[in-house]
Amino acid sequence: MLALLGATTLMLVAGAPWVLPAASGGTNLKSPENGRVCIIDDNFILQWNSSRESVRNVTFSAEYKIPGMENWKKLPGCQHITSTECNFSSVKLKNVYEKIELRIRAEKGNNTSQWHEVKPFIPFQEAQIGPLDVHLEAEDKAIIINISPPGTKDSVMWAMDHSSFIYSLVIWKNSSSLEERTETVYSRDKIYKLSPETTYCLKVKAELRSPRRVGFYSPVYCINTTEKHKVPSPENIQIDAENQVYVLKWDYAHENTTFRAQWSHEFLKRIPGSHSDKWKQIPNCEDVETTHCVIPQNAFPEGIHRIRVQASVGNNTSFWSEEKIFNTEMKTIIFPPVISMKSVNDDSLHVSIGAPKESENKSVNQLYPLIYEVIFWENTSNAERKVVEKRTDVTFPNLKPLTVYCVKAKALTENGKWNKSSVFSATVCEKTKPGNTSKTWLIAGICTALFSIIVIIYVVKVLLRCINYVFFPSSKPPSTVDEYFSEQPVRNLLLSTSEEQTERCSIIENANTITVIEETNPIEDHKKYNSQTSQDSGNYSNEDENSGSKISEELLEQETV
Ligand SMILES: *[C@@H]1O[C@H](CO)[C@@H](O)[C@H](O)[C@H]1NC(C)=O
Ligand SMILES: *[C@@H]1O[C@H](CO)[C@@H](O)[C@H](O)[C@H]1NC(C)=O
Ligand SMILES: *[C@@H]1O[C@H](CO)[C@@H](O)[C@H](O)[C@H]1NC(C)=O
Ligand SMILES: *[C@@H]1O[C@H](CO)[C@@H](O)[C@H](O)[C@H]1NC(C)=O
Ligand SMILES: *[C@@H]1O[C@H](CO)[C@@H](O)[C@H](O)[C@H]1NC(C)=O
Ligand SMILES: *[C@@H]1O[C@H](CO)[C@@H](O)[C@H](O)[C@H]1NC(C)=O
Ligand SMILES: *[C@@H]1O[C@H](CO)[C@@H](O)[C@H](O)[C@H]1NC(C)=O
Ligand SMILES: *[C@@H]1O[C@H](CO)[C@@H](O)[C@H](O)[C@H]1NC(C)=O
Ligand SMILES: *[C@@H]1O[C@H](CO)[C@@H](O)[C@H](O)[C@H]1NC(C)=O
Ligand SMILES: *[C@@H]1O[C@H](CO)[C@@H](O)[C@H](O)[C@H]1NC(C)=O
Ligand SMILES: *[C@@H]1O[C@H](CO)[C@@H](O)[C@H](O)[C@H]1NC(C)=O
Ligand SMILES: *[C@@H]1O[C@H](CO)[C@@H](O)[C@H](O)[C@H]1NC(C)=O
Repeated sequence: MLALLGATTLMLVAGAPWVLPAASGGTNLKSPENGRVCIIDDNFILQWNSSRESVRNVTFSAEYKIPGMENWKKLPGCQHITSTECNFSSVKLKNVYEKIELRIRAEKGNNTSQWHEVKPFIPFQEAQIGPLDVHLEAEDKAIIINISPPGTKDSVMWAMDHSSFIYSLVIWKNSSSLEERTETVYSRDKIYKLSPETTYCLKVKAELRSPRRVGFYSPVYCINTTEKHKVPSPENIQIDAENQVYVLKWDYAHENTTFRAQWSHEFLKRIPGSHSDKWKQIPNCEDVETTHCVIPQNAFPEGIHRIRVQASVGNNTSFWSEEKIFNTEMKTIIFPPVISMKSVNDDSLHVSIGAPKESENKSVNQLYPLIYEVIFWENTSNAERKVVEKRTDVTFPNLKPLTVYCVKAKALTENGKWNKSSVFSATVCEKTKPGNTSKTWLIAGICTALFSIIVIIYVVKVLLRCINYVFFPSSKPPSTVDEYFSEQPVRNLLLSTSEEQTERCSIIENANTITVIEETNPIEDHKKYNSQTSQDSGNYSNEDENSGSKISEELLEQETV
């Protein structure tokens, strides 16, 4: 918007005669500078800056050249211009995708400046989408919007893009600009869910996806919605596929009303222009007095369609309902899965979800990704567990032993596509295995094993200490410590005691907590040890016991930090 205003201002300013204080002579006219083009839709504007030393009565003229042209040609609309811009939209370019060259010079009397060449450009690449023309019509709870596509009717610039534009709209109640709503609309569309007798304002811009380009917003348009219509529109239109037929349903609160429904191809929406005559009556849905009608499936060709319903009381009719989009593919049916359940151990049950049985009817089960809603409950209780799973295996853990649990499942289309789901499968029940005390024994076993290991460690440690004193009275050099740790990032308690000898032993003796931490977070601790060993490398003297306990103290400090 700002940019547009800027451009507009420039164009207005350009109307003023170009005047600069007279300079001496004028023999050597200075060339114009900074030549540039501004293209909005099919409007081509060339702008430039004049040299400060220019003199009175200087004018400018431009020439152009396109591929296939031998010589420069005078640029229409840009001859003897007194301002610093000109409009060359009248050059009807046949091809906006090929490079165009422009040059411009100053002139006074018979004298002229050097040519200034503008950077060659491809018009389509420079073109911006201008503000749109919008026409509005009000209903009581909706606004009908009619957007003229960018450019003129015979626009060359967007000739290829007319059906690619995406229009995005911002609408708000004039009384409160805070409640803004943004919507993507077609060039002819309807904005629903508005309040009657209210002033709404909106602005629209066009966008192209590829190459990505966002247009200027239109001016703000305002309109009042009408007073509430005597005959309200049907609401909540739904269409479901049942055996060989579609059932179209809607909500309506009042009696003595008749209804009619129409359909139209969805793709027509994307083609600019009015297609109000393309709506067709749906068979079996004319003057019905019920709030539903049953339509043979062959009433529609394959594809995506829109459906709308209107209510009538006597000869007064409602506005058309919101349009409901439906895809004839939805007539395919999802069949319920086949499930089985078995107990894996005393406290869990495993549910397998299988493909439905072969069916002669069309099924989407094989065509579209499905997810499963699995309901699981204890037979004697009403409390259900519900899981929605893409997988076909589900395990329910932490169950009571010797208890009957039941399960059923249904298949749904992923992402709620067409809101389709199967009915529930048959319910399958299964009893969990008897609980036993094996856990207790297992725990006891683990404890015994751990205890044995600790005893062994101790024995090995004592042995090593003896060996150490006998064979290696001065212990190991510090380098060994470094080596050990660089080779063994994930420390192992047993190995460390046996290989690291006495100083390691003292760590275990003095700081049991550390060994536990080591195991839970080996990498972090490895870092600690590495820094430790490098810091203390000078202290690894003959005094094994001392250095060992020093490490343990420092480790403890780190631990408390
Ligand atoms: C054109 O240039 C000549 C010298 O090159 C100078 O004498 C003459 O005054 C100029 N004419 C105008 C109209 O500036
Ligand atoms: C050219 O002129 C415009 C105003 O007309 C000015 O904003 C711009 O800075 C000028 N550019 C140069 C390079 O002089
Ligand atoms: C500019 O041109 C006008 C006529 O077009 C003429 O009367 C005037 O003298 C000229 N001024 C200069 C400075 O040449
Ligand atoms: C440029 O000229 C065209 C006609 O050739 C006209 O429709 C358009 O409004 C002009 N643009 C400006 C910015 O003056
Ligand atoms: C300028 O051009 C005109 C014809 O266009 C000519 O009659 C006149 O002599 C020229 N003046 C000079 C100074 O060249
Ligand atoms: C929108 O509201 C403002 C004041 O809030 C009022 O001046 C203006 O006329 C309203 N516009 C319309 C179109 O009703
Ligand atoms: C819209 O309604 C407001 C009052 O709500 C009124 O002042 C205004 O004139 C109406 N505008 C039109 C275009 O009818
Ligand atoms: C297949 O469709 C027919 C009629 O539409 C129906 O009678 C039959 O029960 C369906 N079969 C299955 C397996 O759903
Ligand atoms: C509907 O019509 C019947 C007769 O046709 C009439 O008796 C009844 O009062 C009407 N109901 C309403 C709500 O108008
Ligand atoms: C039709 O609408 C008019 C006003 O728009 C109203 O006077 C009339 O009673 C309505 N007729 C029926 C049958 O509702
Ligand atoms: C309704 O239809 C009747 C005839 O069927 C007609 O006399 C009457 O004027 C119509 N009313 C309206 C509001 O169109
Ligand atoms: C589930 O419980 C009902 C009574 O609530 C019982 O009749 C039925 O046999 C139980 N089902 C299984 C599989 O045990």
